Amino acid sequence: MKNSMYKSLVTCAFPYANGEIHLGHLLEQIQADIWVRYFRLKNRSVFFICADDAHGTAIMLKAKQMKISPDQLINSMHKQHKNIFLKFSVIHDHYSSTHSPVNKKLCNKIFNIILKKKFLKEKKIAQLYDIKLNMFLSDRLVKGVCPQCNSDDQYGDNCDVCGAIYDATELLQVTSELSNSSPQIKFSNHLFFKLSFFLNFLKKWVNSGVLQTSVFNKINEWLTSNLRSWNISRDQPYFGFKIPGYSSKFFYVWFDAPIGYLSCFKELCDIKKDINFDEFWSINSKNRLYQFIGKDIIYFHALFWPAILEGCGYRKPTKIFTHGYLTCNGLKLSKSKGAIILARQWLSCFDSDSLRYYFASKLSNTIEDIDINLYDYAYKINADIVNNIINLASRNASFLEKYFNNILSNQLIKSGIYKKFISTAVEIESFFEDRKFSLVIQKIRYLSDLANKYISKRKPWILIKNASNKNQVHNICSLGINLFKILIIFLKPIMPELVTNIELFLNTSLMWKHISTPLLNHKINRFSYLYKRIDIKDIDFFLKKI
Ligand code: MSP
Ligand code: ZN
Repeated sequence: MKNSMYKSLVTCAFPYANGEIHLGHLLEQIQADIWVRYFRLKNRSVFFICADDAHGTAIMLKAKQMKISPDQLINSMHKQHKNIFLKFSVIHDHYSSTHSPVNKKLCNKIFNIILKKKFLKEKKIAQLYDIKLNMFLSDRLVKGVCPQCNSDDQYGDNCDVCGAIYDATELLQVTSELSNSSPQIKFSNHLFFKLSFFLNFLKKWVNSGVLQTSVFNKINEWLTSNLRSWNISRDQPYFGFKIPGYSSKFFYVWFDAPIGYLSCFKELCDIKKDINFDEFWSINSKNRLYQFIGKDIIYFHALFWPAILEGCGYRKPTKIFTHGYLTCNGLKLSKSKGAIILARQWLSCFDSDSLRYYFASKLSNTIEDIDINLYDYAYKINADIVNNIINLASRNASFLEKYFNNILSNQLIKSGIYKKFISTAVEIESFFEDRKFSLVIQKIRYLSDLANKYISKRKPWILIKNASNKNQVHNICSLGINLFKILIIFLKPIMPELVTNIELFLNTSLMWKHISTPLLNHKINRFSYLYKRIDIKDIDFFLKKI
């Protein structure tokens, strides 16, 4: 079967419900959304789902601090997250929550399967306990020195500096983030998923081309060392789902969150009756499952998650697409590390399409970090979008309106430039497929420059002075609009709002297949759409404000 005949399911990692959406989250969502929109532009069947990750100690503590219930917190966050994604034109077919009844049911089902199949073992373990607050401390609530590389200020699960995975009790000079006291060690019984049982399966699976090479290398390192069993339970107090048959134990948030991928899709199937759950998730599904994640959560997605799926007889992801961190002038954008730009703050000064364009100009299929600089952003938007692309439309449209009643000529000038546009479409297509969006942008920039030079060289504003050249001007400007139309098709997955406006101007809706069919003898609308130039003063103002 050809690629285009499969249906695809695309997922993004679930943002935690204890904080607002920031530009780091948006990088991933926009990357996935561009890809999904590209699929749709080619008329391929694709579903895009995501959810809030609503469980865990952090959410419980945040609600307590706000003096509201965790349910109230996650409900209001859910609304907020959904709303903000919409404003960035990130449109999921379904945006759920891991706290849903469907997810609860499925977590219990999966738990019972792995219990019955003896993939679980019970073990008494030592954990860090805050005696001031009477609670066990989760990995993110303790900080100390990494036992492997000695970097300080590291959390209890893994080291940001060397990537080591360890137990919180192994951290050196550890303190509780909640009370600032030094925690004690206390024992409690827990349920462990025997990951080593899946070693052979995992070795084969990670080798089957599902991961980018650099991610594969990292995972392979982990696979050659001892695979530790994975604790899927947490003691109360905790906000999550109770483990059936175990009073006062909850599923660890990282157990029920990935299961949310399944339940979120199940909910979508319940909403849209014509999608079949098994057609996507059964072990022999031919459909594709593509999962976008950040490099901080590789371990969960490329080891635990496929092992759970394998253990329960579900299909595994076709590809896991990992991206790097978004940094701003070199600083990682995350709440914990301080430097953060909230999606909401962005919208108070700039528009969403321009961010999507700027991200696209930086995105590729590697796990390298992506550094943004707002002056560079302003420069790119002004140079590429305003001066080049919009200018191409407005300069040609003005002649078409003034002299030709906004009707394009009925023939296309036979020219090298049109052929060049068509042949570049093939390259751009493969860049989209491979998620090399920065190369898509490079080509768009190159082609729009070429088109503007073509018009400048022919000087329609001089030609029009002589009545006998009228036809020629008509043809030149109509070609200009047809070149513009092709660029807009390339831009459609990247800047959906802008393109919707331009489709109104061109008086047609655009699909990939329209690239090679020029608009001839076609009535367009008055060109009135202007893309706002970004003023450097706006950038100064924004940087002072955040
Ligand atoms: N809740 C988990 C994911 C569970 S998936 C079943 C989580 N949440 S998160 O809110 O911390 O991150 C959600 C996604 O956003 C992750 O893929 C993460 O890598 C990504 N990003 C969060 N901050 C980021 C940057 N600063 N830069 C790029 N991506 C980042 O992890
Ligand atoms: Zn380390």
